[in-house]
Amino acid sequence: MAEEAIVLTDISNGVATITINRPDKLNALSLAVRGQFVATLARLEENAEVRVAIVTGAGEKSFVAGADISEFAGRTAVDQFRVMRKYRIFSATEAFAKPLIAAINGFCLGGGCELALACDIRIASERARFGQPEVNLGIMPGGGGTQRLARLVGLGHTYKMVYTGEIINASEALRIGLVEEVVPPERLMDRARELAGAIAKKSPVALQLIKEAIRASVRTPLGEGLRLETALLGLAFSSADKEEGVRAFLEKREPKFEGR
Ligand code: COA
Repeated sequence: MAEEAIVLTDISNGVATITINRPDKLNALSLAVRGQFVATLARLEENAEVRVAIVTGAGEKSFVAGADISEFAGRTAVDQFRVMRKYRIFSATEAFAKPLIAAINGFCLGGGCELALACDIRIASERARFGQPEVNLGIMPGGGGTQRLARLVGLGHTYKMVYTGEIINASEALRIGLVEEVVPPERLMDRARELAGAIAKKSPVALQLIKEAIRASVRTPLGEGLRLETALLGLAFSSADKEEGVRAFLEKREPKFEGR
């Protein structure tokens, strides 16, 4: 029997929307979701038609309510290590070569918050709720909740969220810099698509190089990062998209980028 599709993809006008579709379990990250999500990213990365992707959760209530806790019972340390090695959902998300926007429609907890952290931009509905509640289960984050979160919102807010497991609302998430925008629930997907659509019009070559450079900023000393930026700008100058962008400006028209 074919595997049930629990990660759905829709592609329209260069924007892929990836929907984690287990609403009855608040879109918890089961092993099957992890496997399908990583495979989906690989497929979208290869698809030249796709310029930007959006990640969201099915239903009204949840983006992703974390790892699937029902899979934890009886799992040994060795099992857990193997799961983390096999389903590299967070590093695969971060490494996705195209711009990735999280459209956070509800609970964004544990692995869900970590998934959002691995995306480039986070847009939240006013109904979204955020937290790293692993401490309540006697464990700790394992998908970047102590690392990417600290880089995004700073140490103090990270300690507070991860020590307490407390759930915060969307306006608090905006205040601490965990999300970039908050919109009414009914505007969420329109706003995410509007932003994705604007980015999708840019040069795919430039976007990929920009992502590479910005990602490097969190792991390289400033001098090396600046050297990388210079080198990547050099690469951008060798693209057909740069010729088109400059020509379009001089001819006072909209550029048509082909990703070459
Ligand atoms: N893993 C597995 N199942 C989950 C889940 C998770 N992380 N989060 C929710 N579910 C399931 C519930 O077990 C329930 O299933 P059931 O209907 O078969 O009993 C269903 O999703 C709905 O959740 P429910 O708890 O009834 O909704 P609620 O509105 O009362 O509470 C939460 C919502 C998010 C507060 C609560 O579900 C929760 O605390 N989830 C766990 C969050 C968490 O700790 N994540 C980090 C894991 S490391």
